[in-house]
Amino acid sequence: MNGITFPAGFMWGVASSAYQIEGAWNKDGKGESIWDRFSHTSGNIMNGDTGDIACDHYHRYTEDVALMKELGVQAYRFSISWPRVLPKGKGDANRAGLNFYRRLVDKLLESGIEPWVCLHHFDLPQALQDEGGYANPNFVQYFTDYAELIARELGDRVKRWLIINEPRCVAWLGHLTGIHAPGAKNLELSLKVSHNLQLAQGKAIQTLRNVNQNFQIGTAVDINLMHPISDDEKDREAANKLDEFHNRWYMDPIFKGEYPHLAGKIGLKPNQEDMDLIKQPLDFLGVNYYSRWLAAYDPSDPVTRAKVVGKNTPTTEMGWEIYPNGLYEVLMRLRTNYGNPMLYVTENGVAFEDNVIKDGKIQDDDRIAFLCDHLVSVYRAMKDGVRLKGYFVWTIIDNFEWSQGYSKRFGLVHTNRQTLKRTPKKSFYWYKQVIANNGFAF
Ligand code: FCB
Repeated sequence: MNGITFPAGFMWGVASSAYQIEGAWNKDGKGESIWDRFSHTSGNIMNGDTGDIACDHYHRYTEDVALMKELGVQAYRFSISWPRVLPKGKGDANRAGLNFYRRLVDKLLESGIEPWVCLHHFDLPQALQDEGGYANPNFVQYFTDYAELIARELGDRVKRWLIINEPRCVAWLGHLTGIHAPGAKNLELSLKVSHNLQLAQGKAIQTLRNVNQNFQIGTAVDINLMHPISDDEKDREAANKLDEFHNRWYMDPIFKGEYPHLAGKIGLKPNQEDMDLIKQPLDFLGVNYYSRWLAAYDPSDPVTRAKVVGKNTPTTEMGWEIYPNGLYEVLMRLRTNYGNPMLYVTENGVAFEDNVIKDGKIQDDDRIAFLCDHLVSVYRAMKDGVRLKGYFVWTIIDNFEWSQGYSKRFGLVHTNRQTLKRTPKKSFYWYKQVIANNGFAF
């Protein structure tokens, strides 16, 4: 039996996002978001699911915070629904919406849990989409004003901030492949969106620093490790291109003030002023890690000349390869190529079918094994010099998994879709022990 103990002060947390859990999609003055519109349009989401009710966290947040308290997490990462607080995306704020987040933050603090606020996790106000959405040049200012509103509203009690969750998904899934809201499929538009998001991020960082110099400010990127399917030169180049397009596109601008070579080749040529704005010092980077992608040469792809292929290795319910060592590689790469920034794993977790019930408990041993193996990677990376300070499981309760609706369950806690009753799974009790012992045996 092996055992690992994390350094004192290592932060254990869980993560969620507004649209995936809150429900109450049109209550108390909330405006429509692009995810409301997208899920209400038939054909977009598996089984026609919507986030209208989701986990009804808006009304049941005290129960959910109590679960987190029982779990023993030191931090909870959640996002603010922009249209809940600014129904039109700008202009008059919705007091009822702001009050919801005040109550949530109060409840967390009272429970000894540090609130980590993510300002944007996919749910753009529909009113702004109607004006051109993320691609509208004014988006940068709208986002900054919204960021300032939240920072002033919650900044007396919230110290840690994530600016934008996974700009890659917003740009490429929302505007290129069209599987996320708003469902566009347009390369030129997606390039604009990717750039505007990073500009907005830069400007919001500056704004938050002006509000309070003691804020700890980061942002959350999803990094998939890219490996070639073979040693062939063409496959290696394919992996390299996928890496440029999906990973470096969202890290090089922040850390190096430039886009990877591919950007210029496919038509994104920003000016120096823009790049200076994007390259803002971060207090930490949030890393969301789930899987590795295997790349093969594919001349038919106009952007990367690459495709992602399978290899008969074990996958999760999402079809994502289980590859824990990838987290080690990703973290080491950040250390080596990006100046060893302070890091948090802001999402890591897994969807499995969870159908083994014994003694009234969901026996999700496969989830426990997944988390355990990934935490070993985290630990090894720290031993090898990575400045990693904490880890957040995605996610606390089974929730709305975007285009997959409720068909995929990532939670440590089971949510009954009819009654919305929450039942902790075996992994919940396992994670509770990990936190209590600041480590585990395996
Ligand atoms: C990430 C998202 C998060 C969740 C997980 C499974 O890309 O940030 O909302 O859906 O994937």
